[in-house]
Amino acid sequence: MNIAYHACTRMEANNDPAYQIQLRKQILDTLAKREALSFEELMQDSAGAFPTEVRSSLRELCESGSVAFDGKSYRRTDKAEWGLGEDATEGSAIPLPESHPLDFDWRFTPDGRRALISQINRYSSSKSKLALFGAPSLFLSLAAIRPNTYLFDRNTALTTAFATSGRGNFVVQCDLRNRLHPDWIDFDFVLADPPWYPDYYEAFIDRASELLRVDGILFVSVLQWLTRPNASADRRALTEHALSRGFDVIEVVPTILEYETPRFERAALEKAGISVRGWRHGDLFIFRNVGKIVPELQNSDVDMSRWNRFVLGSVQVQVVGDVGTGSFDFSPVVRDSPVLTSVSRRSSLRSRIHIWTSGNLAYSTTRPEIVRYAIEQLEAGRPIRATLTLSQKEFGLNQNEIDRLGALLEQLI
Ligand SMILES: C[S@@+](CC[C@H](N)C(=O)[O-])C[C@H]1O[C@@H](n2cnc3c(N)ncnc32)[C@H](O)[C@@H]1O
Repeated sequence: MNIAYHACTRMEANNDPAYQIQLRKQILDTLAKREALSFEELMQDSAGAFPTEVRSSLRELCESGSVAFDGKSYRRTDKAEWGLGEDATEGSAIPLPESHPLDFDWRFTPDGRRALISQINRYSSSKSKLALFGAPSLFLSLAAIRPNTYLFDRNTALTTAFATSGRGNFVVQCDLRNRLHPDWIDFDFVLADPPWYPDYYEAFIDRASELLRVDGILFVSVLQWLTRPNASADRRALTEHALSRGFDVIEVVPTILEYETPRFERAALEKAGISVRGWRHGDLFIFRNVGKIVPELQNSDVDMSRWNRFVLGSVQVQVVGDVGTGSFDFSPVVRDSPVLTSVSRRSSLRSRIHIWTSGNLAYSTTRPEIVRYAIEQLEAGRPIRATLTLSQKEFGLNQNEIDRLGALLEQLI
C-alpha cells in the first residue's frame, strides 16, 4: 500500500458524507464506553479510520458540542462513564529488516503476536502442519511451539534474515499470486495476512484452499470497516470469495490483530503533525475448509393456499383444504403419539399431515372438510356438543363417526 494511494483514499473519504457519519458514530460509541480518552487512546478504537480523518471528525464533534476537549482528553458531553485502559508489554525482538511500503508490510506488535498465537493454539497441535502467508514476525515464535511451521513470503530479504535461525528450510520465497508447486498440500492450518486489497485477498485465499486438507483451518486478517470508504464491500467480497472456494466461516474475532506503525507510516503522519503509534488493528476471520459441498435440493416452499387457518383460544390449527371420501376417521401421523417429532421442512411425514396445530400435533384424516366445518363452529364459540350435533346434520354422520370427531376435537382444544 503506497503512501500516494493512501493520501488519495483519505481525500476521497473527506468527501464522502456517509463515511463521515459512520466515523463520527464510531467515535461517539467509543467515548460512550469510557470516561475520557486521549487522541492516542481513541485511535485504538477507530475501526481502522486514518488518524487525520479521526482528527477532523473530532473537530466537528467538538464544534457541534457533542464532544468536549480539555486540552488532553475528549469526553462526550451527554454521558461518559466506565473506563479502563489496556496494558502493553514489549515482546521479543525478531531480527528482521525494517518493513518497506512496497511489501505492504505492517508487522504485529508483541501483544498482537501473543494474542494471535493463543488463537492459533486453539486450532492446532504440536503435530500440525502450519503455513504463514506473509507473517514473518510471527514465524520464529510460532515455530518454537509448532515445529512444522512454514513461512511463505515474497520478500527475498527474509530468506537471508532467517538463514541463520535454523529455520531457513522452512522459508518458501514465492509470489502467492501464482500457484504453488503441487507438492505443497495437506496443511492443517494457514494464517493469511495479505496486503489489504481484494486481489491479494483472493490470491491468498486461493493458495490456502490449495494447501489445506479438508477440515483445515484458515485465519485471515481483515481490514476494519472504516479503514477506507469501501472497506465493508471488501470485507464482504473476501468472505464471499472464501465461501466460493469451499470455506465456511466459523468465527470472527474483532480487533484482535494489533499492528505496529512502521517507520514509513510514522513519517507520513508526522508530516501531517500527528504522532500516534500502534493504532492500526485488524479483525480475525476464521474459516474451515469444508470442500466443495453440493447444496441440498430444496423442496419448494409451503403452499399456504392449501391450508385453512383457525384459532381456538391461543392455539392455531391448520387444516388442508381438500375434500375426502368415505366414513370419517383420523389418526396421528406419528403412530405412538400425535406430537410430530420433527419441525424440519424436509420431514417426509409432512405430506401426510391434514390437521396440524401450533403445539405440533399432526393428524391425517379421511374427511378434512368435516374437520374444517367442526372447527369453524368451535371458533364461532359453539360448545363441542352443539358442534357435533351440527356436524352430524350437515354430513349425515353415524354414531361412530360422531364419537371419532368428538375425540379429535377434544385433542385439538
Ligand atoms: C501486511 S504484511 C503482514 C506482516 C505480518 N503482519 C507480520 O507481522 O509479519 C504483508 C506480508 O505479505 C508479504 N507479501 C506481500 N505480497 C505478497 C505476495 N504477492 N506473495 C507473497 N507474500 C507477499 C509481504 O512481504 C509481507 O511480509
